[in-house]
Amino acid sequence: PPLPLIDGFGRIHNNLRISVTDRCNIRCVYCMPETVQFLPRAEILSFEEIERVVRVAVGLGINKLRLTGGEPLVRRDLTKLVARLTAIPGIQDVGLTTNGLLLGPLAQPLWDAGLRRINVSLDTLDPVSFRELTRRDGLEQVIEGILAAKRAGFDPVKINAVAIKGVTESQVVPLARFCREHHLEMRFIEYMPLDAENRWERDKVLFAEEILNLLTEAFGPLRPSPNQDPRAPAQDYDYLDGGGRVGLIASVSRPFCASCNRVRLTADGKLRHCLFALEETDLRALLRGGADDETIAQAIRDNVAAKWEGHEINTARFIKPERLMHSIGG
Ligand code: GTP
Ligand code: 5AD
Ligand code: SF4
Repeated sequence: PPLPLIDGFGRIHNNLRISVTDRCNIRCVYCMPETVQFLPRAEILSFEEIERVVRVAVGLGINKLRLTGGEPLVRRDLTKLVARLTAIPGIQDVGLTTNGLLLGPLAQPLWDAGLRRINVSLDTLDPVSFRELTRRDGLEQVIEGILAAKRAGFDPVKINAVAIKGVTESQVVPLARFCREHHLEMRFIEYMPLDAENRWERDKVLFAEEILNLLTEAFGPLRPSPNQDPRAPAQDYDYLDGGGRVGLIASVSRPFCASCNRVRLTADGKLRHCLFALEETDLRALLRGGADDETIAQAIRDNVAAKWEGHEINTARFIKPERLMHSIGG
């Protein structure tokens, strides 16, 4: 059996999030500035390089992958990467987190390439607030993408909404209702301080508890779902009226760092042991410098071994990483 990737707090890491591009076709205000200097193509890992990292990581116990961005579907031929990754022995699960804009025509090809899990980011059902939040149009296209994913067989399709006080608060109930009607799994995410323009303030976080209250008022009581994955960021609840499931990702009010099992690979080949990490390991330099598999494996082990206990959003010690959300992948 592979040697586990274990950190100084005893946490075993089996989950690798891979950002395949830092580019995006929208500009969500909580994630990205309007104008950004994107990475030059030569700095982005090729599919071969990503596959090599994954093969080495599998030898260290990684068995779950999630492709992120920027927007992963703007990367050309992404379905080919999916097919290569799902074919790697030892990989049990490959997911994708997308803004949904390009998903309509790609949902079926992605399914055919072996993808089985899709999360779509959608913060509002109102076209005017969609434009305000994303600084682009495209709400209808996103909804088409979600429905195409359902038709292709993805079940559940999860919908992610960042919950921001006074901004997306009024959308909590409409989004939840939309998901109940279409048998989608809605998840609300507490707003985290990784945005480009330093707009984040604690007072703007709509807390999981408050969301739960809004949902209970609108749809009646909920109860924590049985058989939850204790290592997943979302705490899931079931509607008692049979309306399905809803998840709350309480990164700020209830950090789940103690059970963290994730490492992240950026599009330019840097390994991050935390969403908020301040240091990175340059795997690209090793890949392009002719390093053998064992050297790469050791660099991954060392990165995880140096992992801290958890984020410090709730303390005065918090330091925002230089890398912004769009270039980490969430
Ligand atoms: P599942 O595999 O379906 O559970 O996916 P996920 O919820 O882990 O991934 P997704 O990309 O949909 O992320 C949803 C939200 O959770 C985003 O806002 C992420 O930034 C956040 N998130 C994911 N993993 C972590 C984590 O390890 N720590 C923190 N703080 N937030 C995370
Ligand atoms: N806080 C919380 N979640 C965020 N996301 C992007 N920026 C933030 C933020 N500042 C979410 C996206 C997407 C996921 C990958 O991360 O909405 O669903
Ligand atoms: Fe893991 Fe960092 Fe997320 Fe905490 S904030 S759960 S340590 S990635």
